[in-house]
Amino acid sequence: MASLNIDPAGQSVTLSTQNGDLRFHAIWLRDNAPDPETRAVGNGQRLIALRDIPADTHIAAADLAGGTLSVTFGPEGKSVSYSVNWLEAHAYDGHDARARGWTSDAIKTWDAGLNDGVPTGDFAALDAGGDALRNWLEQVTRYGFGKVASGPVEDGALFRIVDWFGHVRETNYGRKFEVRTEVNPTNLAFTGLGLQAHTDNPYRDPVPTVQVLYCLESTAAGGENMVVDGFAAALRLRDENEDYFNVLADHCARFEYAGEAGVCLTSRRPMIELAPDGELIGVRFNNRSMAAVTDVPFDKMALYYAAYRRLGEIIDDEAMEVTFRLNPGEAFIVDNTRVLHARKGYAGAGTRWFQGCYADKDGLRSTYDAMLRETTLEAAE
Ligand code: FE2
Repeated sequence: MASLNIDPAGQSVTLSTQNGDLRFHAIWLRDNAPDPETRAVGNGQRLIALRDIPADTHIAAADLAGGTLSVTFGPEGKSVSYSVNWLEAHAYDGHDARARGWTSDAIKTWDAGLNDGVPTGDFAALDAGGDALRNWLEQVTRYGFGKVASGPVEDGALFRIVDWFGHVRETNYGRKFEVRTEVNPTNLAFTGLGLQAHTDNPYRDPVPTVQVLYCLESTAAGGENMVVDGFAAALRLRDENEDYFNVLADHCARFEYAGEAGVCLTSRRPMIELAPDGELIGVRFNNRSMAAVTDVPFDKMALYYAAYRRLGEIIDDEAMEVTFRLNPGEAFIVDNTRVLHARKGYAGAGTRWFQGCYADKDGLRSTYDAMLRETTLEAAE
């Protein structure tokens, strides 16, 4: 059973719950009031701006009863009720200081151990929506990639995958791009080369957040797809050498692509991106489009290159990679802000035809969260 204590100046209240003491400021409570004059009943949008709330807002009276906190704010004389459950779910008091590079509970980092558990959905089941789609989206969110099996072998089928959760992001490469390779022994050295694992298009700002690659033809031996968790790689770097992690997080790299007429894409962003509170939120790694790095002080450039080299070695380590072969009608999707992808080299002759496109991670998360809320509401009814 929760109990209540009001700060004598009315600046905050303390709720003592079984999860500990949670303090809430008067101004925070007032700004987050759920009453219909503050929040629109239909869409939940806030109807007032902070300027509409007096700067000297304070708690004139408060009362706790039956899982509801009632607060009267001065000088407005306005009374508002809050669900204690909501307050507990939105508490900001008592967060422990977290290590630089902490990650959200919604994700789980992985290495080659995930080879046995590649998140995979069946095309027809995912296309029907419902639980199958929700579970697959949950896994894609958690691991940053996922496979789709048993899809149609037809031009443009990749767009049907994007339709499940979001929208195509069109770029100068078009709405989709073709990855066609003729593999024969005479040009093996050229076309059959494996690529180092990378994130796509780090020279864009913002980067494309989701990539879909769809297999339409694959007769050459080899050419498997491989993915590496960029977050796991960054955290391994941190655990090995904190200075390496910090120098890559604290300085911007430069990326550039100007390989066709009328295109000059440039960006200035770190290889390891952290939120202001240290949360690991993005990795950019692409040897082909790295430009001259000019934002690292002279005294730190040698350290920067040592860190960049070590991060590359970690990414190349087979212990980090999950590998799978895609057959016609199969596809995979990656969170391009986190998971690196690559193609392995070929061993024989044949053809390989993939179609790729970019899409939006915010759409994916929104679709998943909306499905999750619907399920929670149904369960509560
Ligand atoms: Fe790529």
